[in-house]
Amino acid sequence: MNEPVRKPDGMDPDEDVCLCFHVSLRKIRTFLARENPAVASLISDCLGAGTGCRWCVPFLRHLHDQHARAQTPTLFVSPERYANARLGYQATAVRDEHVVRACMGAELPRENRTGSHPDAAPGGS
Ligand code: FES
Repeated sequence: MNEPVRKPDGMDPDEDVCLCFHVSLRKIRTFLARENPAVASLISDCLGAGTGCRWCVPFLRHLHDQHARAQTPTLFVSPERYANARLGYQATAVRDEHVVRACMGAELPRENRTGSHPDAAPGGS
């Protein structure tokens, strides 16, 4: 499959960040700009985002962090990769850290992509 690994310009605003409740990036941006929530968990007030399977919770936190730094909140991932990674999360209860980091614009270097914890030091110790 020739699916784009990462969207260099960020997610399309009309794509859903919270797939359970179909809360788009645009809706979350609008909520952040209007409400300026003190903590990311308050994003749940935006149509219940993050209160279903919880896949999107780290991404909501990232969007909140970007907003707090006066950056335009976005995620760097194709909708296909994002949705597929959620399916994996729902099956295993483990988030693919490669996808998580890619979404946040910090994809792992290739040598860290197989069989090691993404936070492990290079060389495995
Ligand atoms: S994708 Fe947001 S709670 Fe499931």
